[in-house]
Amino acid sequence: MPQLMHRIVPTVKGITLAFVLEKAPSRRKALGSFYTPEHVAETLVNWVVRSPNDRLLDPSCGDGRFLASHRNVVGVDLDPAAIATVAKELPHARVYAADFFDWAMHTRDRFECVVGNPPFIRYQRFSGDVRRSALEVCDRVGVKFSSLTSSWAPFVVAAASLLKPGGRLAFVVPAEIGHAPYAKPVLRYLLSRFHQVSVIAVREKVFPDLSEDVWFLYADGFGGESDRITFSQWDEFPRKAARPNKGLHVSRHEWEKWGERLRSFLISPDVRDAYREISERSDSVRLGEIARVGIGYVSGANDLFHLRPSEARQLGIPNEFLRPTVRRAGFLRRGTITPAIVEGWLQRDEPVLLLHLPQKGRLPDCVMKYLDTASAQQARLGYKCRNRNPWYTVPDVTVPDAFLAYMSGLGPRLVLNNASCACTNSIHAIHLTNGLSSSELRKRWTHPFVELSCEIEGHPLGGGMLKLEPREAARIVLPSTVAKVSQELQAAISKGVTTLRRWRHYVR
Ligand SMILES: C[S@@+](CC[C@H](N)C(=O)[O-])C[C@H]1O[C@@H](n2cnc3c(N)ncnc32)[C@H](O)[C@@H]1O
Repeated sequence: MPQLMHRIVPTVKGITLAFVLEKAPSRRKALGSFYTPEHVAETLVNWVVRSPNDRLLDPSCGDGRFLASHRNVVGVDLDPAAIATVAKELPHARVYAADFFDWAMHTRDRFECVVGNPPFIRYQRFSGDVRRSALEVCDRVGVKFSSLTSSWAPFVVAAASLLKPGGRLAFVVPAEIGHAPYAKPVLRYLLSRFHQVSVIAVREKVFPDLSEDVWFLYADGFGGESDRITFSQWDEFPRKAARPNKGLHVSRHEWEKWGERLRSFLISPDVRDAYREISERSDSVRLGEIARVGIGYVSGANDLFHLRPSEARQLGIPNEFLRPTVRRAGFLRRGTITPAIVEGWLQRDEPVLLLHLPQKGRLPDCVMKYLDTASAQQARLGYKCRNRNPWYTVPDVTVPDAFLAYMSGLGPRLVLNNASCACTNSIHAIHLTNGLSSSELRKRWTHPFVELSCEIEGHPLGGGMLKLEPREAARIVLPSTVAKVSQELQAAISKGVTTLRRWRHYVR
């Protein structure tokens, strides 16, 4: 059961928290503990609090910096050490050492305002009872998240559901609120429950230790509904009072038309118009309409299954079990992978030969001997290997028509496959599906518009990189090769690309 640590109510105006809880980096990551700069916390509290009597909840209060600038406050945090510190430093606060979702399921308390900086814990670590409770609390208010959701999304929904009618909310959220699939149910929920919903994109790195940028979410009038999101762009988080409710009004309809991705509204309306006009031309196609875009195979034990030519020779492994493969984006330097390029890799003795063994049939003794080595027997215990039959057959090995890097600096390069290579899951494998030739695909890819399309359909990864998930790559627009690039269009493309690269902090 949640543990109530303290309940005293004197005044605290102007308190400064002169401590930061020191945590081991792994624990910090597991709990998503990145504390908000004090001026930011104070501003968010000022956004949501209207009266000294307002009851304020911070569902993941950490060291209590959001609780410090108001009197009537409730804080919850999973970290007992953090809660103990808050109890000591902020005797006015009512605090609970608990999983917020579990607490939210049981509390009858309701609030005029909620505020905070929820943990950003990706789905791989956001697991077990906490995720189960998170999905259940959200399900109760009609919001369904997939198991791939990051923790911040259910935090926002669950916290919002504890508001009193007319209540307000302000959260620090990761910039992926502008593009992640699980950001969509959050915004849909807020639109259906609040009179006003605002998202503020901030280019400044508010958290220098986080690779991801943070944006801000503000909602007012719980119990109402809204058909638009107010979207603003700030270069930096202001030190003085700032209004969260000014900006571009993006109608729900328009937001939906742009795939419910607010990121698209970082570019100016003329660039958006140009993008839409070209995308909707009858001779433009999306990559996913002419090709299947997916990731390459997952070997389950890269060192075991990728051999250098010298190793393969030494082991005596027949060529029929070896397939040249593209292991990383670093191998995608030229426009086409040719047999001569592969020959170069082999000459340099790169580990680019995939050991591709059939599911059925007898294997030669030399292969059996290799699979019997201590390192192979160790590798077979790994998750992927032990869950397939037989453990040594790498599934989904295909020969795509082209490759596309997942992550890139300037933008992803499309590389044709003229050497029958396979590829690993760190690269997109593109299989043409409706008769378009590889050379036609390449011609379309070289259209300058594609650069803009990659920026719009992809998303920033941190460190200036652009990432394209397979579903995003499938949406890349390929205009007809005969489509003229007017000066006007060229200007719109450059403007859009420059804006989006600036937002992903790309420095050439
Ligand atoms: C990003 S920090 C924010 C702390 C503080 N609100 C701030 O911004 O300075 C996230 C906090 O969430 C807490 N946390 C992680 N999972 C939680 C859960 N399931 N319930 C409550 N708190 C949790 C962590 O212990 C951490 O203090």
